[in-house]
Amino acid sequence: MEKFVDLLSAAVARAFEAAGYDGAYGRVTASNRPDLCQFQCNGALPAAKQYHKSPMAIAGDVAAQLQDSLFARVQTAAPGFLNLDVSDEALARYLEAMAADDRFGVEPAAMGRTVVLDYGGPNVAKPLHVGHLRSAIIGESVKRLLRFAGCRVIGDIHMGDWGLQMGLIIAEVRERRPELPYFDEAFAGPYPEEAPFTISELEEIYPAASAKSKVDEAFAAKAHDATFQLQQGRPGYRALWRQIMAVSVADLKKNYGRLEVDFDVWYGESDAQPYIGPMLEDLKARGLARESDGALVMDVAREDDAKEMPPCILMKSDGATLYATTDLATLVQRERDFHPDEVLYVVDKRQSLHFEQVFRAARKAGIVRPETDLTFLGFGTMNGRDGKPFKTREGGVMRLETLIAEVTDFVSKKIAENQTVAAGDQGDTAHKIALAALKYGDLSNAPTKDYIFDLDRFSAFEGNTGPYLLYTIVRIKSILARYDGDAAAARLQPPADGAQRDLMLALTRLADNLSVACRDRAPNVLCAYIYELAGCANKFYHETKILSEEDPVRRAGYIALIDLTRRVLELCIGLLGFSAPEKM
Ligand code: ARG
Repeated sequence: MEKFVDLLSAAVARAFEAAGYDGAYGRVTASNRPDLCQFQCNGALPAAKQYHKSPMAIAGDVAAQLQDSLFARVQTAAPGFLNLDVSDEALARYLEAMAADDRFGVEPAAMGRTVVLDYGGPNVAKPLHVGHLRSAIIGESVKRLLRFAGCRVIGDIHMGDWGLQMGLIIAEVRERRPELPYFDEAFAGPYPEEAPFTISELEEIYPAASAKSKVDEAFAAKAHDATFQLQQGRPGYRALWRQIMAVSVADLKKNYGRLEVDFDVWYGESDAQPYIGPMLEDLKARGLARESDGALVMDVAREDDAKEMPPCILMKSDGATLYATTDLATLVQRERDFHPDEVLYVVDKRQSLHFEQVFRAARKAGIVRPETDLTFLGFGTMNGRDGKPFKTREGGVMRLETLIAEVTDFVSKKIAENQTVAAGDQGDTAHKIALAALKYGDLSNAPTKDYIFDLDRFSAFEGNTGPYLLYTIVRIKSILARYDGDAAAARLQPPADGAQRDLMLALTRLADNLSVACRDRAPNVLCAYIYELAGCANKFYHETKILSEEDPVRRAGYIALIDLTRRVLELCIGLLGFSAPEKM
């Protein structure tokens, strides 16, 4: 279906042409003075230059030709604007077509495009912390937005499951339990099925080992050696690594599951390792990588660089490969497996230099095709009320699990006080509200911005919050439940007053907002839109006697309108990654 403004633009373009001007000047936009008119066309201003006429004369010529049933009022305004109001019938017709379609007439504009989305990025055996929260929340919403636009999206969690952190754990387990078969080189297998640790033990082991390695040189050397031997494929260490992975992945699945974030593939840095050797050989053979102080590097600076661009280090003098090496090899793998049109990374913006280097290296080496887009969607920090990165009350790193539990607890108390939700539904309702608070609190900010996590504000039922949107939906559901007719069969009617008209106009803007949110990978655009839409819906609700309206046709029109509003709101919050309860 055509976007509403495109439909209006086409009519105005025809009027420009009928008056003897180029139709391209007929572009219509939403009015920036909604108190004066609903839409405007400013095309007479640039047209004046081309036709050497006054803009007012051109606007007048066009207005005289604009006899379209789409418009109820066409006015010219100095210095040459066309102020437009659409007819109430045209508005109702358009919404009726939207309501009849399960995509509300929104075209899948990016049909067939393949996008690999790299988000989440948790580090195995380290607890998930709030820094990973943003990647998960933003990435999940971007994934849903791109899918709605028709893309084939492969969401990859890209775990940090390789390198020194693994060697540290292996070395520490070895010190604690030297008798385990994983450390016996003569052991011929099979290794035990059961892991020698639980997730909580593992989460204690890693920080302990990491701290020890900083003060104990001998231990640090053992950890390095364990890393090296793991990478060389020592069977016992591989088996132990698989145990670490199994325990961690089960825990990650639980945590991301609670966040309603899900990945299509659970690859990690380890999956890229087989590609590293051949990639480095190839880069050397083609003269793209050079030696520098024993290390292997690739120059990625350009002459026109304003800032210094250090070379991309691919291998250190001791043979160890680095973060950039792994990311390049991952691109080799992604190109081979998915042939993507775009690889999109949702990662902390402090990693932007790393990605700039990797992208340049990948292009220079032809690891991705020239037409493949490599995009870095860098996000800012979630801060506490003191403006510093969010911490626990004790000043430690806040674990994601704890944070979710705290938010859920907080809203549980609220709904228990409100006494609107049956006891059996309280758990599920609290979970839905908590997710809305957490996700909307994050997504309503532009991704690159830092923001302050404020539990009171995020979980308020009024204001620009997730729970407010849920509340709006719940309120509509309750009216629909009390309607004596069949809501699905109710027919939209032209608006009877301003509040109803504003709500209808807001609904016509869905497609525009979705396409901007998708193009800019900006869930915040969708947030701003539904906040406005919910505001219109609540104003309409307060000013209109919906269920007690006596005229059944008009009553059905109201019902059809709020039902469409509910469906649009539910679509949008779904794209943001949360959903509404029945009551709250
Ligand atoms: N594991 C990394 C971290 O915690 C994030 C990974 C981001 N993705 C990537 N392809 N490098 O910082």
